[in-house]
Amino acid sequence: MADHMVVLRETRDGVQTLTLNRPDKLNALNFALTEGLVQALKEADADPFVRVVIVTGAGRGFCAGADTREFTVLTPDNQPLVERRAALTTELQGLVKQMSKPVIAAVNGYAMGGGSGLALSCDLALAGESARFGYPEVKHGIVAAIVMAGLVEHVGRKAAFDLVATGRTLDAHEAQRLGMVNRVVADADLLHEAHSLAQQIAVHPVQAMQATKGIFHRVTELPFSEGLKIGQQLNAQMRAFRQTESPA
Ligand code: COA
Repeated sequence: MADHMVVLRETRDGVQTLTLNRPDKLNALNFALTEGLVQALKEADADPFVRVVIVTGAGRGFCAGADTREFTVLTPDNQPLVERRAALTTELQGLVKQMSKPVIAAVNGYAMGGGSGLALSCDLALAGESARFGYPEVKHGIVAAIVMAGLVEHVGRKAAFDLVATGRTLDAHEAQRLGMVNRVVADADLLHEAHSLAQQIAVHPVQAMQATKGIFHRVTELPFSEGLKIGQQLNAQMRAFRQTESPA
């Protein structure tokens, strides 16, 4: 059972902010925080009062990635635990795509490894000026494995290999140039900007927004001709949306 306080939740005007709450460890993803975030995202998706979700971090970090202190128990002689951890991380890194509602990352401070992966997995990402990204796994003698697909999807092969092979840290502006974030804003404005972006989305009819997100993530994984076909099917269905809900 996940500890709810590891993720703080606040809902205002249809926007739920989920705040990773291990500030003293820069919100590193241990079992409890990973489980808590998975649970909070699923509950936000199921909550009819929530239209858009924001993910951010308490304190001076967004998320420092996997909790390196858990590496001492994640050893080959503990393979069932290793596999459970891999499954949980995979669930988190793939979850936003499965959700029906848009999720915005508000990246404050460090977003490393799985933390950078988490930001990239969100539908939109804003970064504060002080945000820093990186994939330092190789420095620990491990691999940026589960986050690799999302990284290559966003930045392309050459830039992705640079990041995973050097483990270097990049600033918010370079992250924006590489397509990892939509916009860089002043640190002090980050949550306000994320909330106003969320508001611009939250006013739209829910059914149209959910179908938009659904087809968006499907076409990114399909060859063009198949994407066009599912677009045709949705186009034929979407006329009914206007009868079931009028714009806010
Ligand atoms: N796992 C567990 N604890 C972590 C952590 C992680 N991934 N990242 C940071 N912390 C902890 C530190 O141990 C420290 O705790 P302590 O005060 O009890 O010693 C606290 O968070 C603050 O980190 P600190 O290193 O003092 O902050 P910094 O500003 O000097 O450096 C980073 C920030 C992100 C550069 C540095 O913490 C770091 O490199 N972290 C590891 C990131 C990483 O490799 N992630 C991927 C793992 S595969």
